[in-house]
Amino acid sequence: MRRKIVAGNWKMNLDKVSSQQLIRDIEDRKSDAEIELMVFPPFVFIDGVADEAKQVRVGAQDFYFENQGAFTGEVSVGQLKSVGASIALIGHSERRELFGETNVVLKKKVDAALASAFDFIFCCGEPLNIRKTGREFDYVKVQLEESLFHLTPEQMSNTIIAYEPIWAIGTGETATSQQAEDMHAAIRSWISEKYDSNVAEKVAILYGGSCKPDNAKELFACKNVDGGLIGGAALKADDFIAIANSF
Ligand code: PGA
Repeated sequence: MRRKIVAGNWKMNLDKVSSQQLIRDIEDRKSDAEIELMVFPPFVFIDGVADEAKQVRVGAQDFYFENQGAFTGEVSVGQLKSVGASIALIGHSERRELFGETNVVLKKKVDAALASAFDFIFCCGEPLNIRKTGREFDYVKVQLEESLFHLTPEQMSNTIIAYEPIWAIGTGETATSQQAEDMHAAIRSWISEKYDSNVAEKVAILYGGSCKPDNAKELFACKNVDGGLIGGAALKADDFIAIANSF
């Protein structure tokens, strides 16, 4: 059976007190033990959130691929581990679009995470103009080929991928469950072609983009959707847990 994962990307929201309150509220409402819950607070709150987290995994929204040194403003995997993070997002569309992160840079982040045995959720997804011109499958395939498909079969088996169509992020416009399933099935088939069906079957593929308590059930019912990467709705414990309980 594949993993079931619900991850909350808190983005640049909350403060020290409210981030610790949110993790406590999530822990109090903890869902089914089979479902892996993760939260991704802003860097500065990871330490405090990790102190309060018991069953929920705490991760970072990003990191830099070097270990240490003169990289003003950046944070390394080793530093994240030292404050209690055990996983990170790589290549969220906001990093790609607003901060110019390319497939080449993201490959370096993937390698840095693997070198430190640090887990990651690799994010991919197409912008609206690509979807409108029917090129979304080619676009996402290139993202995976250029940053991820150099992994060994074992490394790939442990990978979590989040498909997040950019036009659905924070817009209230969710991909239909059919649109999500079509892309998730395509991702799994590319992994199967590159590696094999055993590897493809182990990879967890999450959907992200305006996933809410009222649409999570339909999305999570899709054969190739193994959970969600949640933005806005992850900032309320009730909504986040309601989404987790939608499996
Ligand atoms: P959203 O964000 O749920 O607010 O659309 C998802 C994400 O960006 O990870």
